[in-house]
Amino acid sequence: MLTRTAWRTPGAGSLDRLKMVEEPLAEPAPGEARVRVAAVGLNFADIFALLGLYSATPKGSFVPGLEFAGTIEALPGKKRNAPLKEGDRVLGVKRFGAYASHLNVKTDYLRKLPRGYSFAQGAALPAQGLTAYYALFELGNLKKGDTVLVHSAAGGVGLIALDMIKRTGAHAIGTVGHESKLNHLRELAGLSPNHMLLRDRKRFAVDLDQRLKAVGRKGFDVVLDSIAGPYFFPAFERLLPAGRHVLFGAADFMPVGARPNYLRLGWQYLRRPRLDPVQMISENRSVLAFNLIWMWDRVELFARFYDAMLRLKPHAPHVGHQYPFAQTPSALRFFQSGRSVGKVVLEL
Ligand SMILES: NC(=O)c1ccc[n+]([C@@H]2O[C@H](COP(=O)([O-])OP(=O)(O)OC[C@H]3O[C@@H](n4cnc5c(N)ncnc54)[C@H](OP(=O)(O)O)[C@@H]3O)[C@@H](O)[C@H]2O)c1
Repeated sequence: MLTRTAWRTPGAGSLDRLKMVEEPLAEPAPGEARVRVAAVGLNFADIFALLGLYSATPKGSFVPGLEFAGTIEALPGKKRNAPLKEGDRVLGVKRFGAYASHLNVKTDYLRKLPRGYSFAQGAALPAQGLTAYYALFELGNLKKGDTVLVHSAAGGVGLIALDMIKRTGAHAIGTVGHESKLNHLRELAGLSPNHMLLRDRKRFAVDLDQRLKAVGRKGFDVVLDSIAGPYFFPAFERLLPAGRHVLFGAADFMPVGARPNYLRLGWQYLRRPRLDPVQMISENRSVLAFNLIWMWDRVELFARFYDAMLRLKPHAPHVGHQYPFAQTPSALRFFQSGRSVGKVVLEL
């Protein structure tokens, strides 16, 4: 049996509980492959899970991590003409367990690394790419000429979404939480000052109106919202008739420390945005929400959405920060701070 290195927590509750361990890895079962991991993509869900604030968090001890790239080392019971073979460079998703030097995963959740991709770019693609694709097209029904508000536009999902919006002939207005990221939006996504804004909760509504006026639009067709909190209603209220507000994250709830501050979270929870569905009929606006992890068992959807995403030919994801695997806790704390641009990746 192989011995692997992994980052494991004895249970959710604090980022400080995460420890590097050496542990045995069973042989892959039929239908699974053993992958030697070269890069792991970080997700906000990893941090929420470690803190115990994520509904899909495993009970008891677990290895975090939802996406990775690496090389297939073992593929038992491989059929002739199977799409994958030992030695293939692949990317994949896993419902937890990716923070590891080696892992077993069903081959249904693996894909060959797209041509020209590094392992880091591969590990940055599946969660962010599928999220941007699903939000914009499956739920947002994005069309040429639409105007889209994209929160955290310089982040992993944000930059991929901006690329997809541009390729569709639609227009984006991107928000960021730190001034330094405005330059990144200009350089990485070619946004002009009228198409970006630094979020300030006191003047967010005024800033949205100013940007819409500057680009000659009366409102948004689609909002990509991964923050919620105080930014929800100003954006929702600026949806055009038949507009779609797609909600897929609650970054505003991200705690600042290694443990959640339950008092602060309770206060935020009480003040969370609440809607009257009957009123939504009169206003002719929709809210659509999703969490891709709940589609884990719908592997046919993963296949369909992944292929559809690649048909859009998005640029390879921008990997903004790479950390050695041994520095995983530092990488998580940096990612948690909200200062990252593009994807944060662990390298092995
Ligand atoms: N539902 C799903 O299936 C799904 C799947 C993947 C990702 N997501 C969500 O989509 C969002 C983007 O994911 P990502 O991996 O690409 O992350 P990311 O955008 O690269 O990083 C998260 C960003 O959230 C913003 N943020 C807003 N409020 C924050 C706070 N209080 N503390 C820290 N950061 C804060 C920061 O950017 P700015 O301050 O510049 O906005 C930060 O950089 C995340 O909220 C994630 O949870 C959802």
